[in-house]
Amino acid sequence: MRKIVTCALPYANGHIHLGHMTEHVQADIWVRFQRMLGNECYFICADDTHGTPIMLKAEQQGITPEELIANFYASHTADFAGFGISYDHFYSTNSPENKECAYDIYNKLRANNKIATRTISQLFDEEKQMFLPDRFVKGTCPKCKAEDQYGDSCEKCGATYSPTDLINPFSVVSGSKPVMRESEHYFYKLSEAGEFLASWLSSKGRLQVEAKNKMQEWLDGGLQDWDISRDKPYFGFEIPDAPGKYFYVWLDAPVGYLSSFMHFCKEKGLDFNGLWNAEDTEIYHFIGKDILYFHALFWPAVLHDAGYRTPNSLCVHGFLTVNGEKMSKSRGTFITARSYLDSGLNPEFFRYYIASKLTAKIEDIDLSFNDFIARINSELVGKYVNIASRSAGFLSKKFNNKLASSIIDKSLLNDILSINTELNDLYSSREFAKAIKLVMAKIDDVNQYVDNMKPWLLAKEEGRENDLHQVCTTLLNAFRVFAIYLKPIVPNLVSEIEEFLNIKPLTWSDLDLLLVDHTINNYKHLITRVEQDMIDKVIELNKQDTTVVETKVESKYNYEAIAETIAIDDFSKIDLRIAKIVAANHVEGADKLIQLTLDIGSETRNVFAGIKSAYDPATLVGKHTVMVANLAPRKMKFGMSEGMVLAASFEDKGHGLYILEPHDGALPGMRVK
Ligand code: MSP
Ligand code: ZN
Repeated sequence: MRKIVTCALPYANGHIHLGHMTEHVQADIWVRFQRMLGNECYFICADDTHGTPIMLKAEQQGITPEELIANFYASHTADFAGFGISYDHFYSTNSPENKECAYDIYNKLRANNKIATRTISQLFDEEKQMFLPDRFVKGTCPKCKAEDQYGDSCEKCGATYSPTDLINPFSVVSGSKPVMRESEHYFYKLSEAGEFLASWLSSKGRLQVEAKNKMQEWLDGGLQDWDISRDKPYFGFEIPDAPGKYFYVWLDAPVGYLSSFMHFCKEKGLDFNGLWNAEDTEIYHFIGKDILYFHALFWPAVLHDAGYRTPNSLCVHGFLTVNGEKMSKSRGTFITARSYLDSGLNPEFFRYYIASKLTAKIEDIDLSFNDFIARINSELVGKYVNIASRSAGFLSKKFNNKLASSIIDKSLLNDILSINTELNDLYSSREFAKAIKLVMAKIDDVNQYVDNMKPWLLAKEEGRENDLHQVCTTLLNAFRVFAIYLKPIVPNLVSEIEEFLNIKPLTWSDLDLLLVDHTINNYKHLITRVEQDMIDKVIELNKQDTTVVETKVESKYNYEAIAETIAIDDFSKIDLRIAKIVAANHVEGADKLIQLTLDIGSETRNVFAGIKSAYDPATLVGKHTVMVANLAPRKMKFGMSEGMVLAASFEDKGHGLYILEPHDGALPGMRVK
C-alpha cells in the first residue's frame, strides 16, 4: 500500500511553536517508520495563507499579505527542517495549483447542485468597510456582563453567543461601533451530506472511536449548510463568476493537501492523478482535536460531492501543555520552535520526549521540564548511548576496532529481536509511548548484562580476551538493533551511530543481519546531557520574544502615563529639524534597523533607525520626516548614528510604529519648535 501523509497546514501569520511541532513530530515518526519498512510513503504539507487575520496582520506591519506569508514560509520551513521533519514537499495554499483545485472542486459542487446562495446579516465595520468575523468583534458579555469579550464566546463565564448579542459591541479593527449589514453568501449544502457521512465515519480505520462518537453527535443533531464565502476585502481566492466574493479560508485550506502533492508530482515528473487516485494509495491526515470537525465533516463531504476520493484515515491528537498548563506567553511557556533551537537544546530530545508520551488516543500530553530533563538524561544518555561507550573503548584498545567474527551465545540478541513484531505493531498504530517502553525494558536488560559480565574485569584478566571480544561484539550488536528500533524517533542520532558503526543507513530489514567480522570507527561523543540552564534559557527567550505569534488583536490601547512637566527651556535644548530621506537601506545583520541618509539642508546625516518592523526602506525614500539634530553621535556595531528620527508608537509596540511626516511644503533644515 502506498501512503500519502499530511499534517494540518499551519497558519502563515505566526511562528511554529512546540504545540504545532508535536503534530509534525508524531507524523514524521510514523512516516519514517513506513519508509524504514520500505513502504512508498509521501509526506506533504503547506502553509495555510488565506483569511482575515493574515490580511490584517500584514496591514499592521505595513507589508503586503504576499510578503507576510513569504516571511513565515521561510521561518516555518527552517523550523521544520531544524526538528528533522522529513517533508517531501512543503508548499503554500496561495499557489496556482491550489486555485486550480479549489475552482475545480467548487465548479463540480455547483454542477452537482450543491451550492446555494442566501442573504445573511452580519456586523460590518463602516470605518474599515469590512464585514467582521466573530473574533474581530468585542463587547460586554450578554450573560455575565464581563467587558472586553469576543464575539463568539465569553472567557469569563464560558457562554457562547452570536456577536450581535454583545452589549456595546466594538470592532477590534477600528474600535468603531459595528452596524448590521446584509450580504449575499455562498453555501455548500452540507445538510444533504448526512447519510454519506454516517457511512463514511463508520468505515473501518477511519478515525479513533472517541472522535467518531463526537462526530456522530453532530450528525444526530442535524447538519447545517456551510457558509463558504466572504466579502471583500479578503486575502484569498475570488469565487468564479462572483466578483467581490472570496472562498472562506477553510474551503481552500484542505485543498492544499491535494495541490501541494500536485506541485510535488510536477517537480518530480510523477503522475499526480495516477498516484492520488490509485486503489492502492491510502491518504492519512494528522490533525489536532480542535480541527476534527472540519476534517471529519466538511472535507469528506465536499470531496465526495465534487466526485473526488476521500481520505482513508484521520489521525487525531490532543494538545500539548507545558508544566501542566496551557502554553502561556507571560510564563515563557509559549515556546517557539526557533527559541528551542536557538537555546542549543537538541531537537531530538524533544522528539524523544514527545514520543515517550504519545498514544493513539486523543489525549493532551504534557511537557514537564523536570520530567524532560530526567527522562532524557536517564534513558537516552544514561541507558542507551551508554551501551556504546561501555564497550567501544575496549574494542579500540584491545581489538583495533574489529568485531569478533561470530557471536557464540546469541541469547541476549535473540531476546532483543523478539520484540520486533510487537514493536512494528506499536509503531504502525501510533502507540509510540508503548514502543519506547518496550525498547527501554530491553535496554535495561542489556545494561544488566554489562553489569553481570563486567568487561572491565575481563579486560584485566589473563586469557579472557576472547570473552571480552564476545561481550563487546554482543553489546555493539545490541546497540545496533536498538538504533534500528529508535531510528524513526531520533534519526540524526542514529545517523551518527551509523557513522560510528561504519555501516549503511539502517532499515527495518537490517534486523536480520549480525554485525561481525567488521571494523567500526573510533567512538566519539554522541549526545550531551540536558542541563537546567538550557531550559531556563528557552523560557527566557520566550519571555523576551516579541515576535511570538500574536493571535489576539488588542482592542484597548495601552496608554503610557504622561511624563513629568518640563520648562520651555528644557524643550528648546532639543534641536528638531525637518529632514529629507535621500536613501534608506537594510542593514546586514541587524533585524531591527534601517539605515537612513538624511538631508537637513546644511548637511547630510547617517542615522540608524529601529523601524524595520514597520517600513520597507524603498517606500521611505523621498519622504520628509523629523529628526533630533543635536543628539550626541552614537557609535553602533554598524557605524556611527548621527541623530534620531521621531516615530510614534505605544510602549508595547502594539498597533505599529509610525515615523512623523510634516505637512507639504516643509523644507529640509527647517527647525521644529
Ligand atoms: N490552518 C489550520 C489548519 C488547516 S488544515 C487544512 C490551523 N492551523 S493552526 O496553525 O492553528 O494549527 C495547526 C495544527 O497545530 C492543528 O492541527 C492544531 O491542532 C495543532 N496545534 C496547535 N496548537 C497545538 C497544541 N498546543 N498542541 C498540539 N497541537 C496543536 O488550524
Ligand atoms: Zn460572560
